[in-house]
Amino acid sequence: MINELEKDIARVLVTEEEIRTRIGEMGRELAERFQGKNPLFLGVLKGCFVFMADLVRACPVNSDLEFIAVSSYQNSTMSSGRVQITHDVQQDITGRDIIIVEDILDSGNTLAFLKNYLMTKGAASITIVTLLDKPSRRAKAVDADLAGFVVPDEFVVGYGLDFAQHYRNLPYIGVLKPEVYTK
Ligand code: IMP
Ligand code: MG
Repeated sequence: MINELEKDIARVLVTEEEIRTRIGEMGRELAERFQGKNPLFLGVLKGCFVFMADLVRACPVNSDLEFIAVSSYQNSTMSSGRVQITHDVQQDITGRDIIIVEDILDSGNTLAFLKNYLMTKGAASITIVTLLDKPSRRAKAVDADLAGFVVPDEFVVGYGLDFAQHYRNLPYIGVLKPEVYTK
């Protein structure tokens, strides 16, 4: 039966099964790169919360985690380009190997800003991990070190990603029907 979330989804882009398999691979890859290094997973709220939970459990290395919250969208589907920190890291990150965990790399505004911000705070290294990469929309020269899936230029929701704070609890990645955000 189609529920009240799924009625707004045009099509499924990445299934639960595909996400699970890919995160397993990503976790193993990160574990190889970071064993013995005690990295700090830094999730970018709110979109990261589902991905982060699965990724850290797929990556068996000594690590700790933090969250940072930024805003740039203000309830539209286009980035405003201005990034603001609304919740900052709660510990000194000097000398730490940071693994930024993002839901999607789109214009690159958020990650370009964060990378620079974390460098000025003294991080030893920054690794960008994103579940989704939408390279067609890039405005800033920033690349993911590890990306789960490359997606086309469509607005996607689910598995943590929202439209106007909704649909984060869909268990897969779906394309939102355009009439939902144009109405
Ligand atoms: P960027 O700064 O344009 O790279 O955008 C990064 C942020 O925009 C992500 O963390 C998402 O929260 C949001 N975003 C970009 N594209 C989408 C999308 O297709 N669906 C939902 N959120 C998106
Ligand atoms: Mg986000």
